[in-house]
Amino acid sequence: MNHTTHRTRLRVIVFGATGTVGRAALKVIDQSPDLFEVVGLACGRDAHALVALGNAYSNAILVCAADADETPDPTATPARGQTRGEVRRVQRGKASLEALARQQADVVVMAIAGVVALTPTLIALREGRPRVLAMANKEALVVGGEWLRRAAQGQTEIIPVDSEHNALYQILGGTQVDRHHVKRLILTSSGGPFLETPKHLWPTLTPAQACRHPNWNMGRKISVDSATMTNKALEVLEAATLFDMPLDSVEVIIHPEQYVHAMVECHDGNVLAHCAVPDMQVPLAHALHWLHGARPTLERLHVDWRQPMQWRFQPPDRARFPVLDFVRTLKTAFQRVAFNAANEAAVEAFLAERLRFDLIFPLVAATVRAAVAQTTEHEQGAREDVDDGVSSSSSSFDDWQMLDRFYEIDTISRRTFAQKLAAGGKQHLPLNQSDQ
Ligand SMILES: NC(=O)c1ccc[n+]([C@@H]2O[C@H](COP(=O)([O-])OP(=O)(O)OC[C@H]3O[C@@H](n4cnc5c(N)ncnc54)[C@H](OP(=O)(O)O)[C@@H]3O)[C@@H](O)[C@H]2O)c1
Repeated sequence: MNHTTHRTRLRVIVFGATGTVGRAALKVIDQSPDLFEVVGLACGRDAHALVALGNAYSNAILVCAADADETPDPTATPARGQTRGEVRRVQRGKASLEALARQQADVVVMAIAGVVALTPTLIALREGRPRVLAMANKEALVVGGEWLRRAAQGQTEIIPVDSEHNALYQILGGTQVDRHHVKRLILTSSGGPFLETPKHLWPTLTPAQACRHPNWNMGRKISVDSATMTNKALEVLEAATLFDMPLDSVEVIIHPEQYVHAMVECHDGNVLAHCAVPDMQVPLAHALHWLHGARPTLERLHVDWRQPMQWRFQPPDRARFPVLDFVRTLKTAFQRVAFNAANEAAVEAFLAERLRFDLIFPLVAATVRAAVAQTTEHEQGAREDVDDGVSSSSSSFDDWQMLDRFYEIDTISRRTFAQKLAAGGKQHLPLNQSDQ
């Protein structure tokens, strides 16, 4: 794909604009107003926050995925000093979100949290056809990455902005290392907030503690995933899919400082590392400016080499975090969809204080095993279609039928999880509640 040689204003749509990554993307864009024009901003539920953001981008279509009867509409309750007529109109509902994905843009930033990003991402690739998809969302890549790559082929460059994967993209692209020379892809992990927390304390850990990440300011779902190390487990699947590498050649190393984001180890012993300050603006700037073929100046985001530093590396404790091995057993698309859905449901239950921290992984693993074993004959059909459709280049299903199949499996897994959670009764509750 050719870079843009002369500088033109790139039209950008940001999905998940009100989230941590979405806001970081807008910060990068705001530093180069002559290079970007924001033509669309979307959120999930918080239409008020979207309107507040939208004021700075007068040409942007504003879309909130929740219908107007689900969450308050800003026109009904304008901010202080504004009349109803002055409030920017927000288009509401899933259909509006999908219509935004069909809009033409040069760059789409996909920063919606969760597997719900799969549909707008696929629509953007199939119909909006941006030149770059700056992909922050990992859940959609984990369940349908090969499929999304096929949809992008020849028209859209998928640039991961998950910092580890962006690092690998830069190393592999920048050095043009031949894949046959790559022995391992190494993803670093801070270890999350509970790296050193004794295991006997895990039953008492709260959502507030889990969301206090040592290095990153992130949304609640990814914060809990980082605390259980499921985030890193998802990233192993994400890396294998994005870079077309076998799962067992993707390694995880604990690096609490998180300056080194990823490494590529070659068969000849060379290890190529990428480092940068842990701030999402760095990978986002790389992806957003990619079409300009230039790197922007990000003044405050530099490693301070004048300070003495210690960068530690250690292997993860796989017994404490068995999810790292568990994901390597997920061989089929069906299993990955079931795993992701069970995990999303478990994180939701933990955040709502309906599930103990230490029971997240055991319940997710049990759900995946049960969902795989208990599928009905009808559901078996969905399972085989999804496996065939994702792994082969020709599916008898079109994309939209495949999406229905994906969500069918997702529903089976969430239903199985809910049954298991209910069957556990008080045993699954946080300790302070189960005592009552
Ligand atoms: N945060 C990080 O440092 C980081 C790093 C690497 C990768 N990622 C990945 O990037 C994605 C976003 O993470 P985040 O930390 O930015 O999450 P976040 O702060 O929770 O933001 C999530 C965004 O998604 C929107 N959203 C939620 N449900 C939606 C729906 N059904 N339809 C449309 N929009 C919806 C939210 O809108 P409302 O505000 O209206 O709810 C919000 O704008 C995740 O997949 C995460 O794994 C994040």
